[in-house]
Amino acid sequence: MATTRRLTADDAAEAGALLASGKLVAFPTETVYGLGADATDGEAIARLYAAKGRPSFNPLISHVTSLAAAEALGRISATARALGEAFWPGPLTLVVPATETCAVSDLARAGLGSVALRVPDHPVARALIEAADRPIAAPSANRSGRVSPTTAAHVLADLDGRIDAVVDGGPTAVGLESTIVALLDDAPRLLRPGGLSRAAIEAVLGRPLEEPLKDEAAPLAPGRLASHYAPTAKVRLDAEDIFEGEAYLGFGPDRLGLRAKAVAYETLSASGDTIEAAARLFSCLRALDATGATAIAVAPIPDHGLGEAIRDRLARAAAPRG
Ligand code: TXA
Ligand code: MG
Repeated sequence: MATTRRLTADDAAEAGALLASGKLVAFPTETVYGLGADATDGEAIARLYAAKGRPSFNPLISHVTSLAAAEALGRISATARALGEAFWPGPLTLVVPATETCAVSDLARAGLGSVALRVPDHPVARALIEAADRPIAAPSANRSGRVSPTTAAHVLADLDGRIDAVVDGGPTAVGLESTIVALLDDAPRLLRPGGLSRAAIEAVLGRPLEEPLKDEAAPLAPGRLASHYAPTAKVRLDAEDIFEGEAYLGFGPDRLGLRAKAVAYETLSASGDTIEAAARLFSCLRALDATGATAIAVAPIPDHGLGEAIRDRLARAAAPRG
């Protein structure tokens, strides 16, 4: 990707069209600049992780323009509705169970059964999400490990030449990422303090926010992809042969002819492309697990590009479970 286009607030419709065609577009929200991609497009999400240089696939926040749009993606309880009505649009993200028909890609959700949703309060963000006409996944628009950007210049300092466009909407008002609240069990839990105060949220809830459960704070902690999701089948890495009853998850050309020996087969990328592989990772694991194979043997994955993050996730899936 050679040039990053500079767009202005007047170009929101064009920015939305770029997003809808799978491009990466940074845009202002009231909190910080986000790096947007079509949340429903696994490959666009994989390119987003690559552009950020994320060492791992953290789950992303999906941005929509209304509570009604959020309801198509996540199960909105009475508590979630109360918070959404009080604070959306605004600097609050709700982590809720995904609906059966949730359009957000497995990769944007990092394979979790939950989904993070936010209605941003910024005219540019709203206009481009509306123009794209789909949920937009957007982590903060910085290289991994750097601070979140609050101007278009910050975005370019980190990502110029790595993304398709940036929409300059001036400095952001809040300057701090959204507050994240998980509504996954009986207790509302504060996963990340941010631009909306705890006190304001607790006033609406009429009760204190609880501490996060371990898995929510670090949803991809070692040993499990996610408690509800860790494949039932064992996962065996760097396979060079297939044992009785195993499924095979390939990568690149099948030089050893392992596909024929396996009870089921998927390939992360027949051509050996780590971006395609990332996009397919969680759905391939799910598909092979559903076959009832005793184990999933996984081809060696290279360390370059998104390979490092893919290997990290596979290693967690393969780790002994408690
Ligand atoms: O203000 C913000 O929230 C900005 C703007 C662009 O909206 N976005 C942002 O995204 O800060 P990011 O990716 O930098 O942080 C998202 C956080 C991560 O810490 C991630 O682990 C958490 O949200 N998250 C997303 N989905 C989750 C889930 N299903 N369960 C638990 N945590 C989740
Ligand atoms: Mg961030």
